Amino acid sequence: MKHSRREWFRVGLHAAVAPTIMIPKASAYDIQEIEGKLESGTGIAGVTKNDLPTPSLLLDLDAFESNIRRMADHASENGLDLRPHAKTHKCSEIATRQVGAGALGVCVATIREAEAMAAAGIGGLLLTSESVGLNKIHRLMRLCKRRPDTMAVVDHPSNAAELDEAAGSAGVRLNVLVDVDPLGRRTGIPPGSDAVALAETVDRLANLSLKGVHGYCGASSHVKGFEDRKRHSEKYMGPVLESHAAMVRKGLPVEIMSGASTGTYNIDSALEGMTELQVGSYALMDVDYRVIGGRGGEVYDDFGNALHVLATVISKNHDDIATVDAGLKAFATDRSFGPDVARPAGLTYAFRGDEHGALTLADSEREIVLGDKIELVVPHCDPNVNLYDRMYCVRGDYVQQVWKIDARGHV
Ligand SMILES: Cc1ncc(COP(=O)(O)O)c(C=O)c1O
Repeated sequence: MKHSRREWFRVGLHAAVAPTIMIPKASAYDIQEIEGKLESGTGIAGVTKNDLPTPSLLLDLDAFESNIRRMADHASENGLDLRPHAKTHKCSEIATRQVGAGALGVCVATIREAEAMAAAGIGGLLLTSESVGLNKIHRLMRLCKRRPDTMAVVDHPSNAAELDEAAGSAGVRLNVLVDVDPLGRRTGIPPGSDAVALAETVDRLANLSLKGVHGYCGASSHVKGFEDRKRHSEKYMGPVLESHAAMVRKGLPVEIMSGASTGTYNIDSALEGMTELQVGSYALMDVDYRVIGGRGGEVYDDFGNALHVLATVISKNHDDIATVDAGLKAFATDRSFGPDVARPAGLTYAFRGDEHGALTLADSEREIVLGDKIELVVPHCDPNVNLYDRMYCVRGDYVQQVWKIDARGHV
């Protein structure tokens, strides 16, 4: 029977609309409502993942706390200091917990991160990128006034001279590590006599205090296979450690030798001369690290996936695929692969544009229906966190806290 347009709407609506989804009164909060509850002290008891806006960032507290403990134990068992890198999470709540577990402070990649950490009361900051240009230098000096234990890196004598002059006019002493480049040709002075000469220069400057050496070999961190990664890190960190040893032999005050990544934490800990670890991703983890292989096999599972993007199935018109509301804007896209589906099991994900992703359902552990919540492991945690304002901290299904990603952004 053919329906008029008007009739179609009437008949069609009756036929298509499933019994109304009952939205419980205490559910479906928006961000302001959740934050309002937290600020008013009424808490968020009873708020579950199901109530959250999507896409949003979840922090699995059990996995996160276990990661933090595990790295802290590793450092203390190996007689090393721990100064985790806050570039990964950009969140002072996380930094506070890392310090609470025994870290000396945190590393930061930008002056913006340093300022956010200091504002939250975190000390022991090591800025691992060079401070060049008036804006960065002046902000660094202001930070040193507030936090005299702040450290910065230097890889060129002219920058050392600039920092010395700025510290003199600001009336502060700046603690400095010489940044020695293992391989990356990103930042850092080449190892050897140039590095030692730069340390001597820093040591001579009136307003700088030489504290040690910074050597981060990012090229080793994701080498696949534990033995290959070990060979890689030993080869390229060797000359950095030798430069540090040469400074020690000259009597320079270089008590700190900082380096390592989540991929090499259990390799670099055994390197002669290393004093502290500046690991970052271990706190959250991502697909990028899962696939590098661990000591025991093909999956690197020393640390658990604590970070997920929560998405909702918003379209399901086919047996084999469903569409979620998390696409290119919900994930960092700097890797050649996308996210992995953590829950439900058996699904695969592919980008389907800015706001959408496609789930392949063939091997799904259960039927997928409209409104289902899907949890995805992010491809690369650092840039993924930087896309969000907050993370919802969950234990099981329940939201326990909401933490601001207070150091996000680029300034
Ligand atoms: C200078 C520096 N140190 C430490 C880290 C931490 O590395 P990971 O997150 O692989 O542990 C990074 C990460 O990019 C870094 O750039």
